[in-house]
Amino acid sequence: MSAPPIEVRGLVKRYGELTAVDGVELTVQAGDVYGYLGPNGAGKTTSLRMMLGLISPTEGSVRLFGRDPHSTVRALDGVAGFVEAPAFYPYLSARRNLELMAAYDGYGAAGRVDFALDTVELGSRARDRVGGFSHGMRQRLGIAAALLRAPKLLLLDEPATGLDPAGMRDMRRLIRRLADDGMTVLLSSHLLAEVEELCNRVAVLRRGRIVYEGTIAALARGAAASYRLATTDDTRAREICLAQPGIDAVSTEHGHIVFTGEERAVAELSRALVEADVLIHELAPQTVTLEDLFFSLTEGDGVVLDGPEPLVVESAS
Ligand SMILES: Nc1ncnc2c1ncn2[C@@H]1O[C@H](COP(=O)(O)OP(=O)(O)O)[C@@H](O)[C@H]1O
Ligand SMILES: [Mg+2]
Repeated sequence: MSAPPIEVRGLVKRYGELTAVDGVELTVQAGDVYGYLGPNGAGKTTSLRMMLGLISPTEGSVRLFGRDPHSTVRALDGVAGFVEAPAFYPYLSARRNLELMAAYDGYGAAGRVDFALDTVELGSRARDRVGGFSHGMRQRLGIAAALLRAPKLLLLDEPATGLDPAGMRDMRRLIRRLADDGMTVLLSSHLLAEVEELCNRVAVLRRGRIVYEGTIAALARGAAASYRLATTDDTRAREICLAQPGIDAVSTEHGHIVFTGEERAVAELSRALVEADVLIHELAPQTVTLEDLFFSLTEGDGVVLDGPEPLVVESAS
């Protein structure tokens, strides 16, 4: 078995008092389109910088295909990407920019310039100066620059941020196409909606820590099974909820009791309430969207999810 494209263990980056990245662990398997999610300031760019060997970790390790990105130049073989916005000479054409990079990169990159431009659908704009490009075109040119290395692993820092809906759709299509061609991709984003159809797996980062790691499917399951309850005696109802088999994660939100449970357990609960002479005003499944869940993971005290997937949930800090 060859080493996975990315293995991050106990990764920490401190800037003085601030811990920008705080114990990140993740594994990206070959073929994954892996979403690295978190609000602004969560530590995404800092993590990607360490993964690309641009800065060194305070603690912990990064292995790309089993190699330390810091050790040698060749350690980044088969790996490409950019953090924040890719940089180009604005007064030179798209092709000239790529040719300069290819000359610097070597390893046959010069022969891939046209292919890279075509892949990101900038072939027809190759002779135009980059200074006149839209933000979306620059982002795509950044990916073209990465493709010069014929990478097996692509690390992209917020490639769709700042794009209009059409630009975002183009970016998603491009990443999908690269993934279908066998590339492993890790991309960061502060918007779940931007990546949820694209990524098979995600890590959600909050203040430098991973608060969820797993499949989108498991995240979606966690988003589904929650109910809201209001009764004639909520104090008693809460006790009954806590004692009821199959009813979990009981809490109070905005004056309602909130819990999770299978349909059957919820039906049993309603009987138990009535038998205890607690009458139900409202018992409704909550429509928690993935976006809501993302928000509560990144803004609140974390949400406890359970499911067959391995989940990492931080305790309230
Ligand atoms: N070079 C640096 N020096 C000091 N603080 C930094 C530096 N780089 C990032 N930070 C801080 O680390 C935290 C995480 O930043 P960053 O990784 O850029 O977050 P994200 O990319 O998720 O928005 C922020 O609080 C940021 O201000
Ligand atoms: Mg960033």
